Amino acid sequence: MEKKNLDWANLGFGYMAADYRYVSNYKDGKWDDGEITTDSNVTLNECACVFQYSQSCFEGLKAYTTEDGHIVCFRPDLNAQRMKETCERLEMPPFPEERFVEAVEQVVKANEAWVPPYGSGATLYIRPFMIGSNSVIGVKPADEYQFRIFVTPVGPYFKGGAKPLTIRVSDFDRAAPHGTGHIKAGLNYAMSLHAIVDAHEKGFDENMYLDPSTRTKVEETGGANFVFITKDGKFVTPKSESILPSITRRSLMVVAEKYLGMTVEHREVYFDEVKDFAECGLCGTAAVISPVGKINDHGKEICFPSGMEEMGPNIKKLYDTLTGIQMGKIEAPEGWIKTIL
Ligand code: PLP
Ligand code: COI
Repeated sequence: MEKKNLDWANLGFGYMAADYRYVSNYKDGKWDDGEITTDSNVTLNECACVFQYSQSCFEGLKAYTTEDGHIVCFRPDLNAQRMKETCERLEMPPFPEERFVEAVEQVVKANEAWVPPYGSGATLYIRPFMIGSNSVIGVKPADEYQFRIFVTPVGPYFKGGAKPLTIRVSDFDRAAPHGTGHIKAGLNYAMSLHAIVDAHEKGFDENMYLDPSTRTKVEETGGANFVFITKDGKFVTPKSESILPSITRRSLMVVAEKYLGMTVEHREVYFDEVKDFAECGLCGTAAVISPVGKINDHGKEICFPSGMEEMGPNIKKLYDTLTGIQMGKIEAPEGWIKTIL
């Protein structure tokens, strides 16, 4: 199989239509058999629930080429499970979890030529999503749905790759208490668009959202969870009912404890504590672990001792170990790696 002729090392985080995608439709109370198709467009009625009431959700995971030439993906069962939980909250019919994993496998296999080679710095981003597809005008869930998975080769999410980021404390809230912050609903991202455009215009890479009820605790950014390292080398990550349970963060908690022997604290993190941490990073499928060098709180700067030039030593160790596991250089815990080819 011949790979596509792409400049793998210089890809950004963008969409490029690959050759194949997976599609399944839900009608009369059941999902059809699903198929691989070449058509990247979706044609829907103007009154489809997704257009009127934003009934949509998504997932994100990656396929990697390992050192020994296999194609694998990382913990797709957890994406399947999280999408099920998201669907339940949005009154959408979950796509069966085993079928989700099989569909990921099918679509990656079909697009083997698009999976970036080992060592290129790029990966294949896999985007499963679901939309309410029939027309709905009174406020209620759709009766028909479409589940699709497309893939696109990507490089680093943040321009500059591993360069430490500058983020700001946002005045906008991301998620309400008892709202939808803990699920991967499209609406969470729609409401973050103004905040991210505004942050970029003011020279910041991302927003740090605080808990909306007290504005005293760290939640997450628009697309990643936080990890902090204390001056005595502990791994600390915020716990909250209104942040997305990141699969990367849950995996890093295991990596920190079991592979690196660090003490792990998953707890509420007060913004007041942040100035005392030694290192900070953002973690997620797209972000991997991106170091944060500086946080701007309404003009007051918190500069981490790790600086603005490179990742701090602990964030680097976490990054190397996690990506080592994903690329097959370090043995993975049981069940973390799904070999596709
Ligand atoms: N938080 C938000 C809001 C996200 O969109 C994502 C991306 O999926 C994450 C965190 C990271 O989650 P994961 O590690 O499962 O990709
Ligand atoms: C991911 O990391 O997969 C996400 O969905 C985050 C998004 C902001 C790209």
